[in-house]
Amino acid sequence: MPDGSAGVPVQSLLWALVGDAALALESAGVPSPRHDAEELAAWSLGIPRSRLRMVEMLDDEALARFRDVVARREVREPLQHIIGSAPFRYVELAVGPGVFIPRPETEVVAGWAIDRAREVAGKPVVVDLCTGSGAIALAVADEVPQAVVHAVELSAEALVWARRNLACSRVVLHAGDARQALPELVGAVDVVVSNPPYIPADGQVREPEVLAYDPAVALWGLGPDGLEVLRGVARRAQELLRPGGVFVVEHADVQGAAVVDLLREQGGWTEVADHPDLAGRDRFATARKQDAGGPPTDFMSAVDMSAVDTHSVDSSAGE
Ligand SMILES: C[S@@+](CC[C@H](N)C(=O)[O-])C[C@H]1O[C@@H](n2cnc3c(N)ncnc32)[C@H](O)[C@@H]1O
Repeated sequence: MPDGSAGVPVQSLLWALVGDAALALESAGVPSPRHDAEELAAWSLGIPRSRLRMVEMLDDEALARFRDVVARREVREPLQHIIGSAPFRYVELAVGPGVFIPRPETEVVAGWAIDRAREVAGKPVVVDLCTGSGAIALAVADEVPQAVVHAVELSAEALVWARRNLACSRVVLHAGDARQALPELVGAVDVVVSNPPYIPADGQVREPEVLAYDPAVALWGLGPDGLEVLRGVARRAQELLRPGGVFVVEHADVQGAAVVDLLREQGGWTEVADHPDLAGRDRFATARKQDAGGPPTDFMSAVDMSAVDTHSVDSSAGE
C-alpha cells in the first residue's frame, strides 16, 4: 500500500488510523490514549513520533504491526513494554518483564541528586540504592561526567535489565540487598539516591499496567506503613555517606510527614526536608549526614532509635 488505501492520501489515512486507535485505547481506559496511539504508530513505522507528519508511505507490514500493538495496549500491556524502552531525563532505558518502568516523577528525585553531585569538588561518589533498570544511576553518570557512580539491585530479574542498560556506561552495578550494600564505601559517599519500594500492605494499586507488570518486589515497601525497606535504605545511606554527604529518597505522596519523622527519629541527619514533584505532590525527602562532632540541628535527631528499627527490618525483602 505505497500511496494510501483506495486513493486516500497517506497522511489522511495515517491520522485516521491513529484517531481510531486513540478511541479504542480510550474505551479500554488507557490514561493517555492519543499519546500512546501516536507512539505505537511511530514504533510500527520505525520512526520517532516527531516524524509522523513526514510519513509518505505506509506498507502492509507496518499496518499489521500497528493493529497488533494497539490490541496489546487495549488489554493494558504497558506502552513501554510494547516498544521496549522508557525515557528518563536525557537517557533511554530498555525495559520489559521483571523490571520496574521508570516514572516521570522520579526524574525530579534524580535531578536533586544530580544538582548536589555537581556541587562536589573533584569526583563525587554517588550511590543509587534499588536501581531497578538503572535509570537514576545512568542519568547521574550522563549528567555528571566526573561522578563515580555505583548502583545496587536485589532482584535477579531486574539485574538482567540493569546490566543491559549500564553495560556501556561508567556505572558500577552491584547485586545485593541495599540495606547492607557496599561495605567498601562506608563513610566515603557524597550522594545516596534511592527510589525504593514504598507501597504499604493495604495500599490500593488500581492501574492494570502496575498490578500485572511491575514486579511485586519493586512496589511493596514491607511493614504496615510500607516503609520498612526505606528505613533500612536510609540507615545504610547514613553509613555509606561521609559527614556532610546528602541523601535523597522517593516516597508516596501521602508519606512525606512519615518519612521526615523516620529520618529525624533515626538521628544523625540535619537539614531534613520534604519536597513536592512537578505535580505539587509530596514526593521525596532529603537530609544531610551530620558532621562528626557537630551539634544536631534537627529536633529529635539526637534520639537513637536504631535498636528499635533494627528489629522491625524484614531481611527477606524481595527473596
Ligand atoms: C520502585 S522500584 C525503582 C527502580 C528504579 N530506582 C527507578 O526509579 O526506576 C524499586 C526497586 O528496588 C528493588 N529492591 C527492592 N528491595 C530491595 C532491596 N532490599 N535491595 C535492593 N533493591 C531492592 C526492586 O527490585 C526494584 O527494582
